[in-house]
Amino acid sequence: MWNSTPASAAGPLKDITNRYVGSAVAANHLASEVDYRSVLTREFDNVTPENEMKWGVVETDRGQYNWSGADAIVDYTQRNGKSVRGHTLVWHSQLPGWMNNVGAGELRSVVQRHITTEMGRYKGKIRAWDVVNEMFDDDGTRRASVFQRKLGDGYVADAFRWARAADPSAKLYINDYNTEGLNAKSDALYNLVQTLKQQGVPIDGVGFQAHLATQYGFPGGYQANLARFAALGVDVAITEADVRIPMPPDSTKLNTQASYFKQLWDGCHAVARCVEFTTWGFTDRHSWVPDTFPGQGAACLFDTNLRPKPAYTRINP
Ligand code: G3I
Repeated sequence: MWNSTPASAAGPLKDITNRYVGSAVAANHLASEVDYRSVLTREFDNVTPENEMKWGVVETDRGQYNWSGADAIVDYTQRNGKSVRGHTLVWHSQLPGWMNNVGAGELRSVVQRHITTEMGRYKGKIRAWDVVNEMFDDDGTRRASVFQRKLGDGYVADAFRWARAADPSAKLYINDYNTEGLNAKSDALYNLVQTLKQQGVPIDGVGFQAHLATQYGFPGGYQANLARFAALGVDVAITEADVRIPMPPDSTKLNTQASYFKQLWDGCHAVARCVEFTTWGFTDRHSWVPDTFPGQGAACLFDTNLRPKPAYTRINP
């Protein structure tokens, strides 16, 4: 459908930038697909476990931990000299079922134990953690998560303080989607980060997921938005970039997608404190998009056969 350019044309992504350049990965693909593992190892120097560190995965049954997927990914990164973005500690989604039975009085200590246990296990091996994930609704009000409802506004500061204590070497991030441009949601996030900084809460960075879709346009004010957060004295990072298109792909759609990825990449590089550019998966062979948005897909830099797409060659000509 499009010309396949050898990925070796200009060197792997990780070698053409002084940012961390990463991808979400799944432990099962890493174990079973040699080509997947080899492209990941060649192109990227940061890895984010796509699901393996989420609460519902590591502690499906209360008090019984399953670290197998997370351990496998961390082990891979240690052997291959990759950095890790830990994902994610306090998130309303993919929670274990038993959380429904945790009373309000108990929840604070349960969250503290979760943060302390998970961060403690990988202490010194995780460069950055998504401590609080997706805490805002799109209108900029706080999401009515179990944490917000039962613990109130203070859960965010508490989470960051517990995280700092658990692994002082890790950079601590708040992470969200639809916050890439200037809008009500990014304003709310900005105001929160400003307040947390003023209060001395240990927050080091803000993650912008960047799950884009060509039919909604490129987020307005993207670079200015990154810059205003950086001016608060935090790092910023693109943490989950992908650009979905209506299926099937054609050259026009793939070119639009390429221009979106290029704008994301360039905006990050224009802001000195944008330290990381991570994509949410790297191959259309495996992506969350078609499951969540039927009829849309092909959101990654590489096709299903791991050939670089126009988006890749636009970033890395
Ligand atoms: O592993 C089970 C499998 O055993 C079972 O047979 C199957 C049946 O549905 O489910 C499998 O688990 C799925 C898991 O992905 C692994 O594939 C879950 O159902 C599914 O809900 C889960 O989706 C993940 C989603 O987060 C959950 O909200 C996606 O893979 C993952 O890409 C997505 O990632 C999120 C980030 O964490 C936060 N930001 C948005 C991003 C995209 O939604």
